[in-house]
Amino acid sequence: MKLILLGAPGSGKGTQAAYISDKYDLPHISTGDLFRENIKNKTPLGLKVKEVMDTGNLCPDDLTVELVKDRLSNPDCNKGYLLDGFPRDLAQASALDEFAAPDKVINLVVDLAKIEHRITGRRNCSKCKNSFHIDFIGETKVCPDCGGELVVRKDDNPETVKERLEVYESRTVPLINYYAKQGKLIDINGDQSIEKVFEEIVKALEL
Ligand code: AP5
Ligand code: MG
Repeated sequence: MKLILLGAPGSGKGTQAAYISDKYDLPHISTGDLFRENIKNKTPLGLKVKEVMDTGNLCPDDLTVELVKDRLSNPDCNKGYLLDGFPRDLAQASALDEFAAPDKVINLVVDLAKIEHRITGRRNCSKCKNSFHIDFIGETKVCPDCGGELVVRKDDNPETVKERLEVYESRTVPLINYYAKQGKLIDINGDQSIEKVFEEIVKALEL
């Protein structure tokens, strides 16, 4: 199964990806995580994209498409993939259609007014990469899943969130129509508990 998770920043893509990838045994491929890993390791790619990511803009399409193409050539993707945060604009979507078109696209729909609260309260595990919210785990620095260190992402501040939302509206929202026209879009109400969102995704995938 080849799946895409589409949705605004903070809509719950990473959170749901952890559950979906576990249930369907699919590799979870987050372009945001791949870029952050490159930045952390100061690779040539990381140095190229650091500034653009810190300001909330999109990394260049050619670099992003190459990164995904390379990752999808890994044998663990023979059974399919779960893409999180890619494609992010029409150029990336049509490039993906050329080398590994998706079967279904899950679009997490969340009221944009709730996004800032979700993102500014997010804590990410530096080890297992799962994300949590201080509403549920409090102000701890220890990952409840694996004991790793919880950190705040550099782009999770109110100014950058505003920019990320603007970029989402102008560059990513057109993908909703793009995949609806292909008959692949599944809208899921992301404004419910994490468990309920996951339940609805499973139901929709098994229809
Ligand atoms: P990326 O890492 O993809 O970030 P994003 O799309 O902005 O999305 P987030 O990771 O912020 O949110 P999420 O939807 O994963 O939500 P989460 O599950 O964590 O991209 C970052 C940057 O990388 C981009 O700005 C760009 O620069 C670059 N980039 C990445 N991909 C690119 C591409 N393809 N092309 C070009 N550039 C690219 O949840 C958020 C919070 O809400 C958490 O605290 C969570 O605990 C909580 N939460 C989750 N679900 C619920 C729920 N149901 N109820 C209540 N709280 C919830
Ligand atoms: Mg994410």
